[in-house]
Amino acid sequence: MTATPPAKTFHVKSFGCQMNVYDGERMSEMLGAEGYVPAAEGADADLVVLNTCHIREKAAEKVYSDIGRLKREDGSTPTIAVAGCVAQAEGAEIARRAPSVDVVVGPQAYHRLPELIARAEKGEKAIDLDMPLESKFGALPKRAGGQRPTAFLTVQEGCDKFCTYCVVPYTRGAEISRPFVDLIAEARALIAGGVREITLLGQNVNAWDGEDGKGRAIGLDGLIRELAREDGLERIRYTTSHPNDMTDGLIAAHGEVEKLMPFLHLPVQAGSDRILAAMNRSHSVDSYLKVIERVRAARPDIAISGDFIVGFPGESEEDFLATLAIVRATHYAMAYSFKYSRRPGTPAATMNGQIEEAVMNDRLQRLQALLGEQQQAFNQATVGRTTRLLLERKGKHDGQLIGKSPWLQSVHVAAPGLAIGDMVDVRITSAGPNSVGAEPLVEAVA
Ligand code: 5AD
Ligand code: SF4
Repeated sequence: MTATPPAKTFHVKSFGCQMNVYDGERMSEMLGAEGYVPAAEGADADLVVLNTCHIREKAAEKVYSDIGRLKREDGSTPTIAVAGCVAQAEGAEIARRAPSVDVVVGPQAYHRLPELIARAEKGEKAIDLDMPLESKFGALPKRAGGQRPTAFLTVQEGCDKFCTYCVVPYTRGAEISRPFVDLIAEARALIAGGVREITLLGQNVNAWDGEDGKGRAIGLDGLIRELAREDGLERIRYTTSHPNDMTDGLIAAHGEVEKLMPFLHLPVQAGSDRILAAMNRSHSVDSYLKVIERVRAARPDIAISGDFIVGFPGESEEDFLATLAIVRATHYAMAYSFKYSRRPGTPAATMNGQIEEAVMNDRLQRLQALLGEQQQAFNQATVGRTTRLLLERKGKHDGQLIGKSPWLQSVHVAAPGLAIGDMVDVRITSAGPNSVGAEPLVEAVA
């Protein structure tokens, strides 16, 4: 009898946004279907996929130091595939700059990873940056559902908005919506595998459109309403949205669909109309605030989150103060804020009035101080509320679990006898800057 050689091991490391996390999971599933097995945590793998992010310069540069770190003591390297948006943007240049890279594959072509690896194993540099018309989704193995109670589901990809600072329209391509039937099928597979919360993903998720099972044109709200009918699915979220695509239907859904969680990530980026125009955001401060007002009217307890960029070319102190003002007017539950990063090939990269690093640092610090206060205030305001958690992972202490509240807060709860994936009714009892503590309403039985 001949012994079968041990299965090759792999490791997929994803950086950046949740779309990359989703893509990384799909690549892992595909490699699993090809006979690869996941390498143990921290162990050397035969194949490493770096699923990269190109959104800001720092993120993009990181890939080269990561490639360097993959060199083993004896000088050899695993098979290295660079996937994601840096792959799309830099292409063959990556393999030139880092000769140990074997495969370069863009975000729309990763379903071809197995054949690219096979070509690389024959000694070729295998590079595929196609944005094929036939969708990668059709070519990927069916989803089995995860080990976790939550899952991402990419429903929309790409972006046609062309904000002047952003690489996404170039790296992810034009806006496409995945077909309704495929999404329902993928959601059902996830739910059958134990998933209780699905987060619908897209660069402009609320621009999703399609036809329901009866051929009627629907938007994201229609998709959410259909998903809400699936037994076993308890919670629905979506991210990231553009203010201009917050339709009446989607706003109304926040007041009507119980499974749709009271959380909205709605980036505004800046608080001055002059800067918003230079960013080509195609909305104003006023129109953004009106959307927020209407969403709050539909769902008064909704938690609002956002993205901000400080130091966009031409941003004056007065413009920046307007950003602080829109933050004060909105009251964010949480938010992400970044220094403007000049991305080659985008219109803003060659604009006059690029801002000095020291000014950007100062503005970022002031903005983050305010956002931090608001986050703490939001958490504090939830103390005393009774709510329901979906338990997602173990906490630091024995018997402690960490779950998510409907408002996406991380919630620590002592819940002996309960397990990851359970839902539990709790009262929030304490608030920190980044998480809250809670007690189960009914004493959990061990
Ligand atoms: N510089 C800084 N931040 C950026 N973002 C996108 N492009 C840039 C850039 N060039 C931020 C935006 C976006 C988030 C995903 O990243 O705030 O909403
Ligand atoms: Fe980038 Fe603007 Fe599209 Fe968002 S809406 S992905 S910031 S171009």
